Amino acid sequence: MTWTADDIPDQLGRVAVVTGANGGLGLEVARALARKGGLVVMAARDQAKASSARDSILGQVPGAALELQPLDLASLASVREAAAAILAAHPRVDILVNNAGLMGIAEGRTKDGFEMQLGVNHLGHFALTALLLPALLASDGARVVSVTSTGRHFGRSLDPDNPHLHGNYEPWRAYGQSKLANLHFALELDRRFRAAGTPARSIVVHPGFANTDLQARSVRESGGGRSQRFFSAGVRRVGMTPAQGALPLLRAATDPRAVGGALYTPRWVNWGPPVRRPLVGRSRSREAMATLWEVSERETGIRFGLATTS
Ligand SMILES: NC(=O)c1ccc[n+]([C@@H]2O[C@H](COP(=O)([O-])OP(=O)(O)OC[C@H]3O[C@@H](n4cnc5c(N)ncnc54)[C@H](OP(=O)(O)O)[C@@H]3O)[C@@H](O)[C@H]2O)c1
Repeated sequence: MTWTADDIPDQLGRVAVVTGANGGLGLEVARALARKGGLVVMAARDQAKASSARDSILGQVPGAALELQPLDLASLASVREAAAAILAAHPRVDILVNNAGLMGIAEGRTKDGFEMQLGVNHLGHFALTALLLPALLASDGARVVSVTSTGRHFGRSLDPDNPHLHGNYEPWRAYGQSKLANLHFALELDRRFRAAGTPARSIVVHPGFANTDLQARSVRESGGGRSQRFFSAGVRRVGMTPAQGALPLLRAATDPRAVGGALYTPRWVNWGPPVRRPLVGRSRSREAMATLWEVSERETGIRFGLATTS
């Protein structure tokens, strides 16, 4: 059976927070959830883009329940402010889609001195999830969706002595590390949800090869790197639409049968409808997950309020 956006159950009364909701996959996730009646907090960095994204949804879904929430994942202060504002407005959050991301860019640092791709793709989301935990646990079955990539296959687990790749930076090494971190975060979070006896589920997805701004931005922000240009040209020719790429995220966020701790991807790796795929080999390394958790708590200074043993 092919799962499509028509299979998203009624979302009336449900509250979703989507990061990077001002473009690409995040915008399509927000649009689809709003279409089904959900209240969507569009957490985004560029506010002009966020306003046009909201207008684009309202143009198709008049009366959609949308809230704009400024969020810069490259700043822990901004993550804290956003989480506080969300908690104040919504004591219960049913869906958190940790979608925002950067790929293959030149070396950069977040406001807190983190390597930029690890900081935005993983550490900012780690902090946001930890801070929103009370609202997620107030739901009768929250979903946290993390977005990985085929880049995880060439990523190395975090080196606790050099997570920010000082003196060892390479754009794809950093992307791979951050996307493996997204996978390990999702699996460890699900294990902790279960160990704590909560009904929440954490699910990881790979969207496939989708024609968004990701690849074009990687060209702009790497000074026109060769491999970045290759992917950018390729995705324009053969990439799925952003709406198609959003389907694994939507399935993980809403399908009542979606399994906690599982991976959803397009059927043919980078193309096709969303299906559950097996997790193999080092994807399941408990040691790497434990290290990731320790390093993430150490770097963000935020302790996750969930049990550590099962
Ligand atoms: N498209 C694909 O083929 C593909 C494949 C595998 C995985 N993915 C993953 O899918 C996710 C979504 O990417 P996309 O394809 O939709 O790319 P996109 O169109 O470039 O969107 C990326 C989003 O991330 C946001 N973002 C970047 N830096 C941020 C920051 N510091 N704080 C807050 N938001 C920030 C951007 O917002 P601003 O514009 O405001 O910066 C934008 O909304 C990413 O995690 C990516 O790794 C995509």
